[in-house]
Amino acid sequence: MQGSANLNIMIKAARKAGRSLVKDFREVENLQVSMKGAGDFVSRADLAAEKILKEELLGARPTYGWLAEEGGEIDGEDPTRRWIVDPLDGTTNFLHGLPHWAVSIALEHKGQIVAGVVFDAAKDELFYAERGAGAWLNDNKRLRVSGRTRMIEAIFATGIPFAAKKTLPATLKDLANLMPACAGVRRFGSAALDLAYVAAGRYDGYWERELQIWDTAAGALLALEAGALVSGVREGQDPLESGSILCANNQIFDQFARTIREA
Ligand code: IPD
Ligand code: CA
Ligand code: CA
Ligand code: CA
Repeated sequence: MQGSANLNIMIKAARKAGRSLVKDFREVENLQVSMKGAGDFVSRADLAAEKILKEELLGARPTYGWLAEEGGEIDGEDPTRRWIVDPLDGTTNFLHGLPHWAVSIALEHKGQIVAGVVFDAAKDELFYAERGAGAWLNDNKRLRVSGRTRMIEAIFATGIPFAAKKTLPATLKDLANLMPACAGVRRFGSAALDLAYVAAGRYDGYWERELQIWDTAAGALLALEAGALVSGVREGQDPLESGSILCANNQIFDQFARTIREA
């Protein structure tokens, strides 16, 4: 796909941050790690990747606003555009040497996400989308959600809240309802990749609570552009603002949403 200038800036930034992360991942045992809250970690690798992204993205578009997990928010001269960045989604995996984590970058314009990049540097899989132009993997693979229509054949991903979160009981209830009805549930530990995998048809659906906009902004656009339906866990909730997201291929969405909402 021939992307816009902004998409190319995002891809270049994601690849550069990805190289820094791959380097740190090779020597993960030497990283300084601190705990932001119970079970919530940040390392030198997250901070180094975020610094690269900030230099690349704000360097190329200095008037845009900025929101990133580790460094917080900067108002831009242009109030209509903002970068939304998670430099390392899946920090806990990363710190345990598990190669399942990603850089996530979204561009918001007038309150709407218009472009998203999720880069799994360990597997060299670059997922990207622009509003109205589809979702893509690497050079030219167009992404489509799965076509499964039967719950019993479908697999779903989620995140099980870590120590500091309040929604563990709700997620356990969901699991009790869903697991007997489907072919399996996966919990891989990166919300951005969970959404990218729905876009790629690897998962049939995904839901999770208590996320932040930087976890989901890019991935939700990927899923939408690949033909998924994306909503809040509760009907009417805004998935990005509420941090509570549910998405699935368009054919199974209603059955899946009903199963989760009944929990
Ligand atoms: C986390 C991941 C994980 C989700 C957590 C997030 P982080 O992001 O997306 O899949 O379950 O709730 O906090 O902290 O690794 O960027
Ligand atoms: Ca984090
Ligand atoms: Ca994250
Ligand atoms: Ca992060």
